Amino acid sequence: MKIGTPKEVLDGENRVAMTPDSALQLQKLGYDCAIEAGAGVAAGFSDAAYKEAGVEVIKSAAQLYKAADVVAKVRPPTETEAKRLREGQLLISFFWPAQNEEQMKTIADKGTSVIAMDMVPRISRAQKMDALSSMANIAGYRAVIEAGNNFGRFFTGQITAAGKVPPAKVLIVGAGVAGLAAIGTSTSLGAITYAFDVRPEVAEQVESMGAEFVYLDFEEEQQDGSASGGYASVSSPEFREAQLAKFRELAPEVDIVITTALIPNREAPELWTEDMVKAMKRGSVIVDLAAEKGGNCKMTVMDDKIVTDNGVTIIGYTDFPSRMATQSSTLYATNIRHMMTDLTPEKDGQVNHNMEDDVIRGATVTHAGEVTFPPPPPKVAAIAAQKPKEKVKELTPEERRAQEVAAFKAQTKNQVTLLTVGAVLLLAVGLVAPASFMQHFIVFVLSVFVGFQVIWGVSHSLHTPLMAVTNAISSIIILGALMQIGSSSILITILAAAAVFMASINIIGGFLVTRRMLAMFQKS
Ligand code: NAI
Repeated sequence: MKIGTPKEVLDGENRVAMTPDSALQLQKLGYDCAIEAGAGVAAGFSDAAYKEAGVEVIKSAAQLYKAADVVAKVRPPTETEAKRLREGQLLISFFWPAQNEEQMKTIADKGTSVIAMDMVPRISRAQKMDALSSMANIAGYRAVIEAGNNFGRFFTGQITAAGKVPPAKVLIVGAGVAGLAAIGTSTSLGAITYAFDVRPEVAEQVESMGAEFVYLDFEEEQQDGSASGGYASVSSPEFREAQLAKFRELAPEVDIVITTALIPNREAPELWTEDMVKAMKRGSVIVDLAAEKGGNCKMTVMDDKIVTDNGVTIIGYTDFPSRMATQSSTLYATNIRHMMTDLTPEKDGQVNHNMEDDVIRGATVTHAGEVTFPPPPPKVAAIAAQKPKEKVKELTPEERRAQEVAAFKAQTKNQVTLLTVGAVLLLAVGLVAPASFMQHFIVFVLSVFVGFQVIWGVSHSLHTPLMAVTNAISSIIILGALMQIGSSSILITILAAAAVFMASINIIGGFLVTRRMLAMFQKS
């Protein structure tokens, strides 16, 4: 079978769905590859490079559609492109089925199968085919670069001979794929970065990337992404109010805001309101990644950049991946290549459209003359559901004090009982045992008591280093061995030398083990 990639027709779209590298991989699956002349030029891949990779370069789009059994492209087909599709053909591209119902029906009636790259379920196995994530990652990175390009200051704080420069403060709203990429870029440029998301489980990821998670003073049932394919669901009006109040507080402080909040198949939630824009400092920048879905800021103009009366730049570009076409084409072509690998289990250059496969089923929107969208929910949960945390009641200082006193009293009572029992036993043994035995026995009992008291007060995790160090200290017997080593008896000298040797191992080993174990508990 032949896989063909046409040149993208949408104005300003620079990406291409096949690269010379991905073509080589597709050929290993047994496919022939074809590309429309000039399709890769805007992304930096010449026709010559394709030819070198064994790809047939076809002059026109019409000829390519005719020759290809599988058409791989980036943007959803235009009307003219859809007309070129034929029965038995497979189209792999972004498709946005919910917004393209009519066209989906026409294509299904024709008998063309469509795999929508935007419908790949967010499950672990499908990550390598997740084109939305590949593109969102680029968009998040590029959003920060674009913000920097429109911001008149450094990101990082500097102290120079000419004066002190404060660091920029960046707020990222929505810590999904694009948001996390933006956080990574912003922190690596040295800005003080804050991030907010309705899913509290991302706080750890945000903080591990060097940003500060913005917590709300509000209690709501945790959103669990596992049920909704790794996406957030709509929050309550009260939560939204608390969120907006927090943003209002932050608006005068932050220099750059990057909004990425998205709930699938819905208009983007309005999170950065007009009054927040007005409260921002002159020269601040907002990059609204959700512009295509109506924007997280309603002042955003899609595909444009505006400057408000108070000097805030709002960027609503929807083509960030296309602005980095070489990178995005490489990742997108790799996503398609992985999809083809799943569709070609025998590596025989023949598509096996297995609708039992969770990923293929999820992404297929038309097949065998039928519309197959929406798919059933994936059998595998996107993220392991988190166990609900047990709520621990906060104690008042008085309650905490009372608890401590009660614990101390109980501990003292135990010790008094133990000491009394020990004293009675010692007395009983003393009545029958000889005096020389009692001397040693008392030392033994006291050392057991002291040892118990010492070890009991040490946390369990530190018992091993403690044992190792006491082991080392016990090697004080080395002194006895040293005193005996000069004895006239050769046997005693040999035994003493052996004792010195073994005690030395004990001392050195004991301290080494202790050091290594304690190092594990030390923060670097
Ligand atoms: P994602 O689903 O991975 O992340 C969205 C995040 O927003 C989730 O973490 C979600 O919990 C969070 N969220 C939802 N409602 C929220 C709220 N009310 N407040 C705070 N956070 C909220 O989505 P992904 O892949 O990161 O994409 C983000 C956005 O970027 C989307 O709107 C997407 O369409 C857009 N995008 C834009 C591009 C461009 O060129 N402009 C290119 C690629 C993606």
